[in-house]
Amino acid sequence: MKQILVTGATGNVGEYVTRHLKARSYPFKAAVTDVDRAIAKMGPTYPFVAFDFENPATYAEALRDVDRLFLVRPPHLGNPKKEMFPFLEAAFEAGVKHVVFLSLIGAQSNNLSPHRKIEKFLEKKGVPYTFLRASFFMQNLTTTHKSEIEEGELFIPAGNGLTSFIDARDIAEVATVTLINPGHEFKAYDLTGPEALAYQQVADVLTRTLGRKIQHIDPSIPEWIKHWRARGASWDYIMVLTAIYTTARLGFAGRVSEDLQKVLGRPAVPFERFAAEHRNVWAIKQPASPSAAL
Ligand SMILES: NC(=O)c1ccc[n+]([C@@H]2O[C@H](COP(=O)([O-])OP(=O)(O)OC[C@H]3O[C@@H](n4cnc5c(N)ncnc54)[C@H](OP(=O)(O)O)[C@@H]3O)[C@@H](O)[C@H]2O)c1
Repeated sequence: MKQILVTGATGNVGEYVTRHLKARSYPFKAAVTDVDRAIAKMGPTYPFVAFDFENPATYAEALRDVDRLFLVRPPHLGNPKKEMFPFLEAAFEAGVKHVVFLSLIGAQSNNLSPHRKIEKFLEKKGVPYTFLRASFFMQNLTTTHKSEIEEGELFIPAGNGLTSFIDARDIAEVATVTLINPGHEFKAYDLTGPEALAYQQVADVLTRTLGRKIQHIDPSIPEWIKHWRARGASWDYIMVLTAIYTTARLGFAGRVSEDLQKVLGRPAVPFERFAAEHRNVWAIKQPASPSAAL
């Protein structure tokens, strides 16, 4: 039986896809840029293969005996034509017959986003694809915003705008189901959580869960930029974050979809449950990497 290649296998969604495939004893390879780092993070029992979108010398080994691909665009790769299409061409030449792509909710109306450029490339190829157009990950609150929450604040310029937060573990389950079962070819799923919340509501849930006050601060954009510059974030990164939170502030991030329920036959994980399951992440004081998610 041919194998599935999981890219982004150490990431928010990819790590859980590899866990699901391993639990089902499904043949797969976990593509990582640094095998030793991946072993340090996830342990030695995963079938890791060295892979870098930007290094064609890694393609042949990663793609050997592979016929399906879980495709994750690393957030810092903003030019898919240069940085990702050469790999996709190699994947199709090597016999890949289905690509499940982690995309972004609303990508279809944002031709400038790298996600839409990748979707269009896959549509043109005519090889079966499944687009998972995901909403904002709950995991951003355990990575990007972890240290602020530990200090009692959610410092986010989204006003009262709603966001349909999704647990990345839910996306991984949809990815696994669509990779190993037929019937999802040439489909696009909008993946959201079960409800849309304002950041004040997120802060209220965190307050109840952690047993200490977490407040939402809605900074002006100059205050926000100053905050992230002081934490050493790059201008590119700050611009991406600003665009995401402005989208929420303007009311474009709150749509709730039933697609996850249709694929998995169960509702998506609500934020309250995610917060309870991750309460220890915020309890321990550790600096978060500014580029850990998004
Ligand atoms: N965060 C959100 O709320 C959200 C919402 C919707 C869509 N998305 C999209 O989801 C995708 C993943 O975002 P994320 O924040 O969750 O990141 P992530 O998957 O947690 O991290 C990025 C992954 O990319 C891998 N990677 C980095 N450079 C690579 C390279 N040159 N070649 C191959 N792999 C490389 C990393 O693996 P190594 O450890 O092996 O380097 C890591 O597993 C992005 O396209 C993002 O736009 C995110």
